[in-house]
Amino acid sequence: MSDCTFVILGATGDLAKRKLMPALAKLIKDEKVKNYAIIGAANSDISDEQFQERFNNAVLGLDKDLFPLMRPRIFYQRIGFDDLESFNILGSKIAEIEKRFALSGNRIVYVAAPSLYYCPITQCLAMSKIVQRDQSGDAPWQRIVYEKPFGVDQQSARDINHCIATWFDENQIYRVDHYLTKELVSSIVLVRFTNIIFEPLWNSNYIDYVEIILSETLGLEGRGRYYDSYGVLRDVVQNHAMQLLSLIAMELPVKLSAEGIQDQKTEVLKNVRVEEGFLGQYEDYHNEPDVAPNSQTPTFSCLKMAVETPRWRGVPFYIKAGKKLDRKDTSIHIKFKNVDCTLKESCVYESDYLTIQIEPNATFSLQLNTKLPGTLYGVAPVQLTFNHDYVFRSATPESYEILLEQIMAGEQSVSVRFDEIEYAWAVIDSIKNMNLPLYNYKQLSSGPDELKDFARNNKMRWRV
Ligand code: BG6
Repeated sequence: MSDCTFVILGATGDLAKRKLMPALAKLIKDEKVKNYAIIGAANSDISDEQFQERFNNAVLGLDKDLFPLMRPRIFYQRIGFDDLESFNILGSKIAEIEKRFALSGNRIVYVAAPSLYYCPITQCLAMSKIVQRDQSGDAPWQRIVYEKPFGVDQQSARDINHCIATWFDENQIYRVDHYLTKELVSSIVLVRFTNIIFEPLWNSNYIDYVEIILSETLGLEGRGRYYDSYGVLRDVVQNHAMQLLSLIAMELPVKLSAEGIQDQKTEVLKNVRVEEGFLGQYEDYHNEPDVAPNSQTPTFSCLKMAVETPRWRGVPFYIKAGKKLDRKDTSIHIKFKNVDCTLKESCVYESDYLTIQIEPNATFSLQLNTKLPGTLYGVAPVQLTFNHDYVFRSATPESYEILLEQIMAGEQSVSVRFDEIEYAWAVIDSIKNMNLPLYNYKQLSSGPDELKDFARNNKMRWRV
């Protein structure tokens, strides 16, 4: 694996601490990158030593012998996200560090800052030459990673995309969604298209509905200011849920490649329409730090969507997402239709499910009907389950670690292409005009009571 200089913009923030620092340490521990330097940059005025200490605290518990080896390769530089002069200083510091460690200039710049700054940051990276467009010949590769949420609506995402395209080529750009590197999410396309048993059934003739659940027990975790201005729709539905939906609903790509898959996901996102929905907010949300006292920000949503393509005509896609719910459950349920029952007496109306349990416990399971032992015609549902960690004898790696590894390898399938993002925003923008009701729900419950009938009538796996 080649060498790499990692630059984190927004290095004193929550994402750097919770996800990026542990992922970098794990990459280094696993020797996925041998020669490296890590340079954090943000607004805060802290020293290299103070930043190293923050890094150390973020990776405590990983491997106590590792950090002392990493420490001399970790640096910090204060920058203003729209201050070119400070980027020039950062650029000189990076060049000096690369020289010192004989690094070739391969760079990943991870932008973990509010998307309001994405355009000024992009301009500053280009003008300070921290990232160069020319990737030809022997030039080192240089890539920029933008965290989600990418914009706040379709127009702002478009503006950022336009700005990026002025300075860089699309193949240098990664708009990340860490869900795409979750092991079971990245297997959806392969499972669907390499097993002949699924494809003939994967359509409105055989599928009754699809349910996508992103249920979290966690609350705001100190991110009140961010969350209160985004809410559940823009925090996880626009990106994670829409990506899951597009992987389930897409057509066979012309080629099994990043571009082939992105083309087909885009076609799905173009054709999604929200038909119905409910929003919720957990009790005492107003008392969270940095949340406005009369905030109307939803922390829960339950949406019924239609994918208006011939394959999915009439099949509802239900998306449930929320914080402070009763369980951590990230899963997709494909509910097959009932058989046209000729064996009337033993007809079972709870028909088959394919469940992709992303977290916790990565599993694929198929619920089938079998004969109930001790009876002649009694029917009982059973589960055929593939447990990822058990079969492959390895814990699924943390998604940010895979993400960084794939970006180093230049793999674009972990990136959400500019047009996918814009169409996914259009879906969320359309919800604004629906004036959906906002219900309260108890913390650590399964959501607002007002949804009981909706969930029951639609036979949703998740029932209030
Ligand atoms: C992030 C959201 O993108 O995804 C968080 O900003 C959310 O609010 C998180 O908690 C959920 O990710 P995961 O991997 O824990 O399911």
